[in-house]
Amino acid sequence: MAPVAAAAPQALPDAPLEAAMRRAFALAANGPATGVNPRVGCVLLRADGTLLAEGWHRGAGTPHAEVDALRNLVAQHGPDAARGATAVVTLEPCNHTGRTGPCAQALIDAGVARVVYAVADPGRHSSGGAKTLRAADIDVRGGLLEADGTAFLGDWLVAARLGRPFVTVKWAASLDGRAAASDGTSQWITGTPARLDVHRRRAAADAILVGTGTVLADDPALTARDAAGELLPSQPIPVVVGRRATPDTAAVRRHPRDAHFYATDDLAAVLADLAARGIRRVFIEGGPTLASAFVAAGLVDEYLVYLAPTLLGGPRVALGDIGVETITGQRRLAIDHLEQLGDDVLIVARPRPLSPISPSSSSTRISKGA
Ligand SMILES: NC(=O)c1ccc[n+]([C@@H]2O[C@H](COP(=O)([O-])OP(=O)(O)OC[C@H]3O[C@@H](n4cnc5c(N)ncnc54)[C@H](OP(=O)(O)O)[C@@H]3O)[C@@H](O)[C@H]2O)c1
Repeated sequence: MAPVAAAAPQALPDAPLEAAMRRAFALAANGPATGVNPRVGCVLLRADGTLLAEGWHRGAGTPHAEVDALRNLVAQHGPDAARGATAVVTLEPCNHTGRTGPCAQALIDAGVARVVYAVADPGRHSSGGAKTLRAADIDVRGGLLEADGTAFLGDWLVAARLGRPFVTVKWAASLDGRAAASDGTSQWITGTPARLDVHRRRAAADAILVGTGTVLADDPALTARDAAGELLPSQPIPVVVGRRATPDTAAVRRHPRDAHFYATDDLAAVLADLAARGIRRVFIEGGPTLASAFVAAGLVDEYLVYLAPTLLGGPRVALGDIGVETITGQRRLAIDHLEQLGDDVLIVARPRPLSPISPSSSSTRISKGA
């Protein structure tokens, strides 16, 4: 006689699952926005859809969201409380042992009946959690509020899919598109509100990268600072690319993080090395030669252009040779966001065709900022 299959667990309706997923996004947002790991939240529900426990990931080396939620559950309700529960997670549970164990196995061991996630894990080593769960007869549903999850994971997801850091190129330019005056001076083209916006965005990156030309011309500190000039809590690693030596007295050598120096022009290799060091978001601050090389190589995911109502004229254009020889070769961009910052205008754009958008780009907004 054929074995009788176990009855499938009663699936919860969408409304409580979507509410739990939204709560999981909110929990995930408590995690660090920079670093190698994604921000993930997890909500554990009883069979009737009521809340059992919740958790989130606090950064590399700490428990993943699912394990955090399971630990909270055990602490509150005892070791068997997860039996028959539904785990609602913003990202597919991981399947690999890194600094912590695989979440898929933790959920299986805890006895959950069902796992619902928003976004599939694109990681080369970490994906496959859904398959492992299904193989253990757990009911798995992926793609719940997937668009929200994709927007929430933003730069991290793009980096994971591309297998290299998410690259933002920023420049400040006069209305006639110059990044410096004819003598090379460029401080300052934009006003204080625009520069504060740059510092805030620097702090959200893992690394800030410039060419040797900018180091030699401007001696930038490459720190993220507030309006009073004080260091922000999060400081990206400073990176200098180019064969010329950085002087011993350069301000970048006094950065609170150790600077990385790459004496090369191989930008893909630089990004690969940074990725291997856990860098997921790179903020390129020029100058024009290096920025142009990144554009020409097709290695830019986002553009931040601060336009000041001033004219500089002369040869120092914001971008030089980007490999466009004729109009049909132009690099079309899509504008995500427009904002006035004091007297200046910020344009956030990304290459067409549309790639997954970053969190800052969920709506196009034209507003007058501080
Ligand atoms: N307005 C702004 O937002 C802004 C921002 C930054 C700088 N600036 C201004 O820009 C000027 C400096 O810019 P810059 O264009 O002279 O220098 P840069 O772009 O900062 O550095 C150029 C150098 O980058 C290195 N490099 C590494 N990989 C490369 C590659 N694949 N292709 C090309 N170069 C590569 C080369 O260094 P090696 O020759 O050493 O190998 C090259 O000479 C200054 O006037 C500064 O004030 C303006």
